[in-house]
Amino acid sequence: KILILDFGSQVTQLIARRVREAAVYCEIHPNDVSEDFIRAFNPRGIILSGSHASTYEDHQLRAPQVVFELGVPVLGICYGMQTMAVQLGGTVEWSDHREFGYAEVRAHGHTRLFDGIEDFSTAEGHGMLKVWMSHGDKVTTLPPGFKLMASTPSCPIAGMADEVRRCYAVQFHPEVTHTLQGQAMLTRFVREICACQGDWIMGDYIAEAVARIREQVGDEEVILGLSGGVDSSVAAALIHRAIGDQLTCVFVDHGLLRLNEGRMVMEMFAGRLHAKVVHVEAAEQFMGHLKGVTDPEQKRKIIGREFVEVFKAEAAKLKAADAGAKGAKWLAQGTIYPDVVESGGTKTKKATIKSHHNVGGLPEQLGLKLLEPLRELFKDEVRALGVALGLPHDMVYRHPFPGPGLGVRILGEVKPEFAALLQRADHIFIEELRKTVDEATGKTWYDLTSQAFTVFLPVKSVGVMGDGRTYDYVVALRAVQTSDFMTADWAELPYSLLKRVSSRIINEVRGINRVTYDVSSKPPATIEWE
Ligand code: XMP
Repeated sequence: KILILDFGSQVTQLIARRVREAAVYCEIHPNDVSEDFIRAFNPRGIILSGSHASTYEDHQLRAPQVVFELGVPVLGICYGMQTMAVQLGGTVEWSDHREFGYAEVRAHGHTRLFDGIEDFSTAEGHGMLKVWMSHGDKVTTLPPGFKLMASTPSCPIAGMADEVRRCYAVQFHPEVTHTLQGQAMLTRFVREICACQGDWIMGDYIAEAVARIREQVGDEEVILGLSGGVDSSVAAALIHRAIGDQLTCVFVDHGLLRLNEGRMVMEMFAGRLHAKVVHVEAAEQFMGHLKGVTDPEQKRKIIGREFVEVFKAEAAKLKAADAGAKGAKWLAQGTIYPDVVESGGTKTKKATIKSHHNVGGLPEQLGLKLLEPLRELFKDEVRALGVALGLPHDMVYRHPFPGPGLGVRILGEVKPEFAALLQRADHIFIEELRKTVDEATGKTWYDLTSQAFTVFLPVKSVGVMGDGRTYDYVVALRAVQTSDFMTADWAELPYSLLKRVSSRIINEVRGINRVTYDVSSKPPATIEWE
């Protein structure tokens, strides 16, 4: 296994991710762990991360000296390179001025780390690498025993290697995808230089995560708010695998979920996984509070607030019902790595959680400890984990669904009858997207879009059906393609698909007589209508 020592870089998790992609197990620990810890960890190799290192004090961060005494390969990245240089007798010029960006790095001579890895070669036959570089601080003298491994015009020592000691360091970031050969370099380091097997699979991750959860939780009880979304579902399945009936899932149905959501969640978790799930039917309560409210932000606030109320009430009930009067000690959340925001600026980095999933502040209010087993995973890893845990593909590869649900997809006042119409119309849209395969790619239109849904417009228009005149509501279909949800393009769905959806909605959902398609990009529109 590989030990990653974290100096607080924003992208340390990406190093772990690349190592896992090379099928090698790794763990991230703070840069100041004890020497005993490192010896006991018994790593096959050590990677020193970058750092946000923006103040002079940060430049004092060092790796425990034992890192260089164990005789295992060490790879320093960015700040990791600088501290390696300082600790092994080289010199570094610190600077508060930093530049980030694309760079072309020349590889010098043959080193095990770069041998045969290059993006192109120059007319003179130098191997060149296209990388993502951050420089400012730079190594100015190589430590004794090291040779130059890489350089750029503005950073003459952009890489160094001591092949006898098997110490390597690069100024650029191999863990980011902008460094095209980054994965190849990290795979080379862990698989060949550290001689790790490359037999680590998601199944092992499950075993390790299960062991960690058991150790953390002991015999205490855990509650988790299950939403039907990917993250909370995977967290629930993983924690259930670890502690079985010590986990209680609370599924709050606020009446603004997708059609059959409640049934699906119960079938999956209570039925197939045999997990304890409390299904709270709270539609009336939510609808009651939303009555007469038309402002979108107000609606969001009410839904968020009521969610917390319902969840707290359920937690209290569970506590009261527990004969041993132990009650839950833990609140589990499906927080994933992108949700973890680092505050930075201090020696030991602190992570704060986005107040999302409608439960911000809940753990404190309930006096519960937080259990977040997905904290170090990226979305696609969470999905792979979900599949490995036996969750159905369709559940794990679902489009995102906002916490306030249909509450922000029914424009203006939310009424139960509007929600009922919208659920059925949206169900038809999604069903057709899942059924329709694009011939060029072989993928369904559901998989070709990032998010697709139906919006209820509380306006009536005239139509004709059979011999009669109708005066009914309008819905808008929305389908977007995006990689980060910050910008998005409307999807060019085939006309034949739109035609089928429109005709089915108008024929099958009495009360809707007109279907429109939203052709607005974000920006200036947003993905949701409210
Ligand atoms: P917009 O509409 O801002 O949406 O372009 C970007 C992404 O965020 C989702 N979204 C929400 N998710 N609570 C959530 O949990 C919310 O209040 C909320 N509003 C928007 C939206 O579905 C899209 O994926």
